[in-house]
Amino acid sequence: MRVYENERSVVWADGESCPYGFEQTPEGFIRHTVELLFLMKPAVAANGSVWWNIMDTYNTRTPIRGNARERLDAMSEVPGSRKGWTEHGACRHSAGHMYLDDTELSSIPPRIAERASRIGYKLKSFITWRKHASPPEPGKSRVSRQAEYLLHLSIGRAPLFEKSAWQALSAKLGGPNTLYESAEKITDVWCLPTSTGKNGHGAEFALALAGRCIALTSRKGDLVLDPFVGAGTTAIAAVELERRCLGFDISEKYVDVAEKRLAAAVVGRQTTLDQDAASMPTTTRARVSASAPRAGAGDRVAGPKSKALTDDISAVDEVDTDVDLAASAG
Ligand SMILES: C[S@@+](CC[C@H](N)C(=O)[O-])C[C@H]1O[C@@H](n2cnc3c(N)ncnc32)[C@H](O)[C@@H]1O
Repeated sequence: MRVYENERSVVWADGESCPYGFEQTPEGFIRHTVELLFLMKPAVAANGSVWWNIMDTYNTRTPIRGNARERLDAMSEVPGSRKGWTEHGACRHSAGHMYLDDTELSSIPPRIAERASRIGYKLKSFITWRKHASPPEPGKSRVSRQAEYLLHLSIGRAPLFEKSAWQALSAKLGGPNTLYESAEKITDVWCLPTSTGKNGHGAEFALALAGRCIALTSRKGDLVLDPFVGAGTTAIAAVELERRCLGFDISEKYVDVAEKRLAAAVVGRQTTLDQDAASMPTTTRARVSASAPRAGAGDRVAGPKSKALTDDISAVDEVDTDVDLAASAG
């Protein structure tokens, strides 16, 4: 369980009413995730992909955190830490479970993958994101976790998949990490950094994660959707890669952060293009400026707060809400 700004209850198809992520059982969270995937499905282009980032969790004793420091403090039980685990206000108590004991791993990612397949997605890959760093965990009878997972889901059997675009990417945007990966082959183990967390969001993506997904399964000009856009990392990667982006978040605070980061990214991108163009021979210059990203969707956050990360909602109607890629986070 993570503590986000502005949690808001959602009325789910199963009749339960709770913010997403506050379900009483792993089954509830799985059901609600599958409901979201089901609702998103008509918006995904026929050759498009969904990338669903999800971590697993221990039954009942889910580490709470607003940010990494808070989690470490809550778990460390050392003098000077703010609170021990059981003293923390957000400590969750078990509602009981049919077969999972307390502190048993819930196997949430593979259970979502199986259900996504049952509702008509094609499960293309089950990717392990091996993070560069992870906080120590207190369990004395098990290993600490350093992995999260990404489900690559598609509508069709052969979605757009651009390995060469990945090979050409910078490391910052998720190109081959040559310490661990061969640029010849992209596998289902991704060794990528976590975010610095400096934008005040406890669960921000690394730019490399979003950039890699976007580059692999969309093309310039395509529309990328992130229904949980948070601090806007997906949108920034989309702008860097000359895609459009539509993002939503329940938190006004995060939408504001995303808006500011995105505006800076658009300016930075334009400056780079201008510098590149200025350093080229005159004949090439015209081509470069013609390919500069237009000021469009993804350039700023607008609309009622907690909602859209696009400056032109009508652009969404224009593309029949077909989304070529959706990235999300657990
Ligand atoms: C894991 S974070 C996403 C972080 C984002 N990818 C980034 O790089 O900053 C999940 C986000 O979902 C948002 N959220 C939670 N429940 C939501 C809901 N019902 N509708 C929209 N956003 C929600 C949270 O506010 C949080 O910012």
